[in-house]
Amino acid sequence: MAPVREEVAAYVEKHNLEPRLSAMLSELVQARPDNVASWMSGYLAAAGSADGAGRAPGAPPAAPSADAAKLEPQRSLMKQVVEVCARAQQTAFAHVTLSGHFVTEATKPEFGQYQNNAALSLFGRLKGTPSAPSSPRAVALALADAMRAAADELCAGLIDKLEVAGAGFINIWIARTWIEARVLDAAIVGMRPPAVVACRALVDFSSPNVAKEMHVGHLRSTIIGDTICRVLEFTGHETMRVNHVGDWGTQFGMLIAHMRREHPDFLSAPPPISDLQQFYKAAKVRFDEDASFKAEAHKNVVALQAGDPDCHKAWTLICEASREEFSKVYRRLGIELDEVGESFYNPFIPAVVSTLERYGQVVTEGGAKVIFPPQSKHAIPLIVVKSDGGFNYDSTDLAAVWYRLCELKAEWVIYVVDAGQGSHFDLVFDAAANAGWTAEGTRLQHVQFGLVCGEDGKRFRTRSGEVVRLVDLLDEAKARMLATFKERQAAAQSGGAVVSDLAAAGAASADGDEGEGGSFAFGAPHMADEEMERAAEALGYAAVKYMDLKSNRTSNYIFNYERMLATNGNTAVYLLYAHARLCSIIDKSGADMAALKAARTPIVLEHPAEQAVGLAVAQFAEKVEDVLRELQPHVLCEYLYDTCVKLNVFVRECRVINVPETPSRLMLCAAGIATMRKCFDLLGMAWLERI
Ligand code: ARG
Repeated sequence: MAPVREEVAAYVEKHNLEPRLSAMLSELVQARPDNVASWMSGYLAAAGSADGAGRAPGAPPAAPSADAAKLEPQRSLMKQVVEVCARAQQTAFAHVTLSGHFVTEATKPEFGQYQNNAALSLFGRLKGTPSAPSSPRAVALALADAMRAAADELCAGLIDKLEVAGAGFINIWIARTWIEARVLDAAIVGMRPPAVVACRALVDFSSPNVAKEMHVGHLRSTIIGDTICRVLEFTGHETMRVNHVGDWGTQFGMLIAHMRREHPDFLSAPPPISDLQQFYKAAKVRFDEDASFKAEAHKNVVALQAGDPDCHKAWTLICEASREEFSKVYRRLGIELDEVGESFYNPFIPAVVSTLERYGQVVTEGGAKVIFPPQSKHAIPLIVVKSDGGFNYDSTDLAAVWYRLCELKAEWVIYVVDAGQGSHFDLVFDAAANAGWTAEGTRLQHVQFGLVCGEDGKRFRTRSGEVVRLVDLLDEAKARMLATFKERQAAAQSGGAVVSDLAAAGAASADGDEGEGGSFAFGAPHMADEEMERAAEALGYAAVKYMDLKSNRTSNYIFNYERMLATNGNTAVYLLYAHARLCSIIDKSGADMAALKAARTPIVLEHPAEQAVGLAVAQFAEKVEDVLRELQPHVLCEYLYDTCVKLNVFVRECRVINVPETPSRLMLCAAGIATMRKCFDLLGMAWLERI
């Protein structure tokens, strides 16, 4: 025991931990000496290693910034407009405070780009006061004057024109030169993140269960969680990507017992467990049918929890086999995650529970130890110790939230888990707040999502009623995409015309210009087998991701391959195709884009279609802000689709090549491409220069 105590003391001193934590750690030593010893030695080894900062155990490295050369953030256009409006309100109506802001995007280009609707509320608040204005319109006129002065002071050159309309709305026109400058910056350096207050974030996502197949439900968590991480990383948050794998619990007793029977020599000759799901099913059958096996399973759970080395070895083998399967899926989807499974938190549970008991927050009910957070809206408690003395999902999440807040010092903890677990997280969050683990401004957030459904609107299943395996789904998406490519190639080779899908989608150039829109063909004969394979994979996986991300995450969605892989409408294929088409226009122009960029070739937004694209590019930063505020990836998908449609209208209505406007228009294409690519990156979709 002594060395462990010393190690704990050294740890506490080194990290200057609060007394509360040090008390917990010494309790922990008494409760679980074996676990703490192994945990500590692992930790101390890590702390002594090159990572001098001494990352706490279980703390995944903060993600390296995706962009090697980080771009300076910028204040979003919306933020700047809001600032002008807020300042004007303060100067013109100093005695009234309105909560929130009243700026919206304009509904039509004729009304400018933004609208300040504060006058109506201000009028309501001023009514009956000695200096009450005569009408909302009078308020709007005064406010507009103050906005002009505020704009001059805060951001000269941003606002072109203000006009009071209707009952008292103020329409705002952004100066074209301002938009042109911002679009030029995008074309030259790329998309800058919005300036936000960044913090230390931890995202708990994916989190499948060992020995069980990853299914479509985990797909949603994985895809949504990854996008949230990408947006956090892009905006400068220190982001930990945590895979809270279900690697602990009573099911391991059954699995270990099965291992002992099937592979009695597993210690000396570790069996290759290629089909873990099969292994699980077989174990379950035995468990349900054979009472002696059941008793054995129970013995193994107890032994595993007590740290028995043989059980531990069997457990490790099972976890490893699972890990291999999971990582195949992550590799295919291009997702990075750090595994900190449930087992990690197990040694902390007794100390966490006993501390809360000491503070009177734990009560005993029916033999179990439970927490009823006083502020909870639920009648059920959090069950932190079962009546048989064992721990469960609740106990683990309680210890995990303590660990993340108090030890990892995360300021924003995001759980990307299906909506069905809502009350569980409410209870965990309330218990954490009650325990005093949250600081001012700490955010604990359950990012929930709905079900993936089949055509019948019920939970998505295979024909035989089984859960759909994630790998099968990815295989199918890729196979279908590949079949489409092959078909098109065959048609082209047999002399048939390869019809441009974008032409079908209404995006071919208006003057029937072969060189720009018309001849661009999808899955064209130019592709060698290997390129086709790669393209099918990129498009197939992107289609799966986009289908999931584009709907409001809280609703259920219907899984449908045809719709997902369609070449028109709001699909990944349409978007990636449009992007490749823009690349091909630049390619065909033969222009030296690097030289055009180096010369800072001006972008002139003359045509309404050019102006629409320009505004969309200039609004990128505020859309990222929206995603961050709501943690709603579909906001980014909507923006991407809108921008893509505007780009298609632009290349349909404006000739790009061989016109006096060519340099400016090529630069606008480059800005459009930069915008689309950054959105693809944030959504985790791989893009191709040609398809
Ligand atoms: N393994 C769980 C499941 O498959 C999800 C875990 C989510 N994270 C957490 N901290 N509870 O349902």
